[in-house]
Amino acid sequence: MLGRSRRVRIATFLVVGTCIYLFYGGFLSASLLELKPSPRKRIQYPFKEKGFGGKDEDKATAVKQVMQRTFGLYKQKAWGFDEVKPVSGGQRNSRNGWGATIIDGMTTAAIMGLSDIFADQYDWVVNRVNFHKTMGLVDPFETTIRYLGALVSTVDLLEAGVISPPSPSFRKDILRQARTLADNLGPAFDTPTGMLWPRVNFSSARGVDDSGRRNSYTRTHLARAGSHFLEYATLSELTGDKIYLKNSTRAWNWLVDNKKGEEWPGILESPRLIWTGEPFGTTRTLGAPDDSHYEYLIKAHLLFPTRASTRRHAKRWVQAMTSAQTHLLSTSNTRPRHSFLLSYSKGMYENKMGHLTCFIGGNLLLGAAYLSRPDLHSFGEALIDGCHHSYVSMPSRVGPEEWSWTPRERKQTRINGFTSPVTAAQERLWSQTGIWPTAANYNLRPEVVESYFYGWRITGQQKYRDWAWDAFTAIANATSTHWGYSEVTDVTATPRDGSERDANLRDISESFWSAETLKYLYLTFSDPDLCSLDSWVFNTEAHPLKRRFR
Ligand SMILES: *[C@@H]1O[C@H](CO)[C@@H](O)[C@H](O)[C@H]1NC(C)=O
Ligand SMILES: *[C@@H]1O[C@H](CO)[C@@H](O)[C@H](O)[C@H]1NC(C)=O
Ligand SMILES: *[C@@H]1O[C@H](CO)[C@@H](O)[C@H](O)[C@H]1NC(C)=O
Repeated sequence: MLGRSRRVRIATFLVVGTCIYLFYGGFLSASLLELKPSPRKRIQYPFKEKGFGGKDEDKATAVKQVMQRTFGLYKQKAWGFDEVKPVSGGQRNSRNGWGATIIDGMTTAAIMGLSDIFADQYDWVVNRVNFHKTMGLVDPFETTIRYLGALVSTVDLLEAGVISPPSPSFRKDILRQARTLADNLGPAFDTPTGMLWPRVNFSSARGVDDSGRRNSYTRTHLARAGSHFLEYATLSELTGDKIYLKNSTRAWNWLVDNKKGEEWPGILESPRLIWTGEPFGTTRTLGAPDDSHYEYLIKAHLLFPTRASTRRHAKRWVQAMTSAQTHLLSTSNTRPRHSFLLSYSKGMYENKMGHLTCFIGGNLLLGAAYLSRPDLHSFGEALIDGCHHSYVSMPSRVGPEEWSWTPRERKQTRINGFTSPVTAAQERLWSQTGIWPTAANYNLRPEVVESYFYGWRITGQQKYRDWAWDAFTAIANATSTHWGYSEVTDVTATPRDGSERDANLRDISESFWSAETLKYLYLTFSDPDLCSLDSWVFNTEAHPLKRRFR
């Protein structure tokens, strides 16, 4: 039985608590667009309760085998370089020569349970790579999402027991490297706005523009300006050193609390001047090169769902997504109608959409599930359908880098170029499918299968698994080479024979092929509890980070 004084204390607590809740609850819901934070809100579809959706063993294994083949051939031909050249078997350094394929692929190997590969990667990270030395300038954005993201995610995955640690000192050893890297990137933040310098010169320890100089009109796009939060906040959690979190939020204070407001709430003009934060350009897009700014707004809130400070990021995300639905959503005038996203620049719409923009369907589903927004959910599903259409419309069944359509809205009167197909081949595709590629290459990118992954995990609809399998087989078919998997020049071509096929291959294989594309495919066929969206948030390079509920 409760003692009297304890009961009084509980009653007082309840009364005071209710008052605080009513006061702040009312205040917050008014100011946060009906955002009702409920930290443990379930995101994933309840597969277990519904009794289906377990691991699809055969398909998961097929994806894993492609990962093994990718890594095996890379190791044989290009160990220590950033990438293997998948057609010629040569080597390429595109990410400062720190072995991008090794490090960026670590979390995929861990998730797939590939301990041999993981042991090689771990040894490279802990004993070999030197993050003090590099040729050329360092790109803080790419370095953060690929290298630093992989390192902090690996610590989280090892601590969660996803794979057994190769050494008991893994935490200390990996974090030592992660801090070295982050500390060397530090000069990127030396601007009045906290918007990063586009590059860092490690020898002079100074932030510079992409040609190595410093000047007062250096500009940056939104993704570069401020999507370091997930990686830096996690590094601060793991090390206890707040400097990383602090640095990564400075630009956001600016971008998230834009005092001047926007014509379309939440959608900022880009690029910006890093010294003043003022817009230099007038582009408004959720696609590249502004994409992960929007992606991280909701993910910041999901990473720390109980922190009041991240609610304004969620609020900005809702604003931006609502504005995008109002101003940038477009449907084709052909039947059946498909939905796509426009971008807007210099007062004109551009009716083309890029593969990179296809992340947004999954991002919408993620935020809509958490914030209970059926309107944004439908918007997300419609965009995933549009991206799926871009794949199945191509003869190779792999989607192009960029495509166009004829929109049915009146907005089309203000369209800048791309109103109709130009070549005979484009014309033919357009008449059959309602779209035509304006850039026909495929770069092994993940965004479309990434959105299928969210579609499957959040809605439980089998069609997303089917679409993912279809994409996987088509991609493997179109891109497979002697030494791995290669970017292709033209997804409208289906060359069968050797020399014709070679001519369609670019001899490039970036690290996101194993970091992202293969990981999202694998997780679509794995047990849905593996890296559940209820416990993990993926950075923009698909490295999962533990959600922290305190
Ligand atoms: C943090 O930002 C400051 C500039 O405000 C910079 O000098 C410092 O190197 C940065 N440190 C890290 C670890 O990012
Ligand atoms: C980096 O800085 C060093 C020392 O100031 C300079 O010699 C070098 O040319 C710079 N590197 C680049 C790529 O600009
Ligand atoms: C790709 O698919 C075609 C037909 O669907 C088939 O003939 C060809 O062998 C496949 N190529 C590869 C490399 O799998």
